[in-house]
Amino acid sequence: MCGIVGYVGYRHVLPILLDGLRRLEYRGYDSAGVAWLQDGSLHRVRCEGKLDNLARLLNGLQDVPSSIGIGHTRWATHGEPSEANAHPHTDCTGSLVVVHNGIIENCYSLRRQLQREGHIFKSETDTEVLAHLIERYMDGDLVQAVRDALMEVEGSFALGVLWQQDPDILVAARRQSPLVLGSTEDEGFLASDIPALLPYTRDVVFLDDGEMAVLSRDRIEISRIDSGRTIIKGPQTISWDASMAEKAGYRHFMLKEIYEQPQAVLNTYRGRIVPDIGEVSLAEVEIGLSPQVIRGLKRIVLLACGTSWHAGLVARYWIERWVGLPVEVDLASEFRYRHLLVDKTVLTIPISQSGETADTLAGLRKAKELASPVISICNVVGSTITRESDGTIYTHAGPEIGVASTKAFTSQMAALYVLALYLGQIRGRLSRTDLRGKLSALVDVPEMLENGLESWHERAKELADTFYTCSDFLYIGRNINFPIALEGALKLKEISYIHAEGYAAGEMKHGPIALIDRDMPVVAIVPQDHVYEKMLSNVEEVRTRRGIVIALGIDGDRGLARVAQHVISVPQPRDPDVNPFLYTVPLQLLAYEIALAKGCDVDQPRNLAKSVTVE
Ligand code: M6R
Repeated sequence: MCGIVGYVGYRHVLPILLDGLRRLEYRGYDSAGVAWLQDGSLHRVRCEGKLDNLARLLNGLQDVPSSIGIGHTRWATHGEPSEANAHPHTDCTGSLVVVHNGIIENCYSLRRQLQREGHIFKSETDTEVLAHLIERYMDGDLVQAVRDALMEVEGSFALGVLWQQDPDILVAARRQSPLVLGSTEDEGFLASDIPALLPYTRDVVFLDDGEMAVLSRDRIEISRIDSGRTIIKGPQTISWDASMAEKAGYRHFMLKEIYEQPQAVLNTYRGRIVPDIGEVSLAEVEIGLSPQVIRGLKRIVLLACGTSWHAGLVARYWIERWVGLPVEVDLASEFRYRHLLVDKTVLTIPISQSGETADTLAGLRKAKELASPVISICNVVGSTITRESDGTIYTHAGPEIGVASTKAFTSQMAALYVLALYLGQIRGRLSRTDLRGKLSALVDVPEMLENGLESWHERAKELADTFYTCSDFLYIGRNINFPIALEGALKLKEISYIHAEGYAAGEMKHGPIALIDRDMPVVAIVPQDHVYEKMLSNVEEVRTRRGIVIALGIDGDRGLARVAQHVISVPQPRDPDVNPFLYTVPLQLLAYEIALAKGCDVDQPRNLAKSVTVE
């Protein structure tokens, strides 16, 4: 987590650093800082809290005559959020600064050694160790000193280094934390993520693990950290533009991204399906996953964290039925430490919006070591997970900035829906008629979402007014909508800090029903599908115990209206397999409006960061 930026060029550096940090603030926001070279000396401004605090401190400095600098927005790992712990960190001389994203795992032993050698530490961070370590190896050559220092470091890093004595270059390096470089004819940029570069360039180069780069005004030179061997890499052109990473008049990124879902879902299946014929084509996975490999598969493992894991849980229901293979859906943080029974007959599908989640990446690597073919579902083109997969199905959701994942989730489900049909098609499990039916149902989704958004939003506002003071919520669903209950609960807890639990409704009698009382709303997902009657019974049971039910069910469902005090109407699709798309969006809006009513910071909830690049 944490966002880092760096610039070397001809423009005033501070507005560029600040703008870049704003675009990365979703990665961490407990403190921030910048450093720049001006008239041969290094300047540094840091503070605790959000970027607005830093912007206030920099007010009036926009035009300082400097065109090289680095910046950081922090998500604390070592040392509490404070000015002293904010990056950039310096060495003892104060002439070298470092910004860092990642964790230096051997920081305590390195720190002790360096202190014994006389280095004076001013913060509690692991990052400061890097500054002193580079200082230890400094012999007039910044690049070599960084190289030597990094050879001693265990753990993960994406870093930017600036040294007063070499005023025309920035040094960057990466291991297990994302870092992207950009350039124009006479400028060089570094950043943790693409949105920071979009206002300036769409031609980017992703650093790989174990690589470092020297950025100057007219070139970027990449080499291996260990051997110094030069690496030649062409730029990749990103199709996103800067406005896609802005709020476009919405009050929050999260709201904008909720409203973008019809388009995100459509973009994800477009070009991959022909509903009239009943055909799915996924050219992007054919190299890594040939029809022969697909036919020989014995099992499928879906691997992810958080919301992406919920998308995997939904996909299990589709894959089991359409592909006819056993499916495991694992939390990546658990998978990576299990005794894995995975081999070349097991397809691994990591799911990740960012493509940089540390646990998902580690799980992917373990699966690959065991010869499993790996096809990822990812939103960020060129991210580490995509680079290490045998193939990727990109969700074309556009940049997701709100920390709470919304459009990434629905577009992940769209990608998984299409993938499941593709696998079923290749394995001969689905007839053309089946495929036509399932694809047409998916094609209906964007319009159904579009038509529902405004009314769901209005209903969410009303319900939020009534319920925002509650301290606990229960979300229940069955079968393919059980993961939607989990996702609804996660959305509420992460942005409103209200305790919320998602449960399989059938589990109610095994414990959670004891919680039911007048003060705890139960959000029940009750579409008219094959478990409708069962869900109605669960709702009845809550009512009988004087519980309050907010039910989501189809328009005009009188049976449901009789048992639930509050109803959110959702249209009936032609196939219940697309219900997860339709029932997700009202729950996102409910969480959003409740968080707003509570006065929470919706886009940057406390303690969270968008991209979890450390374990
Ligand atoms: O980038 P990823 O999809 O790998 O991220 C996974 C989770 O960190 C993410 O979904 C997280 O749970 C979100 N805060 C959920 O809204």
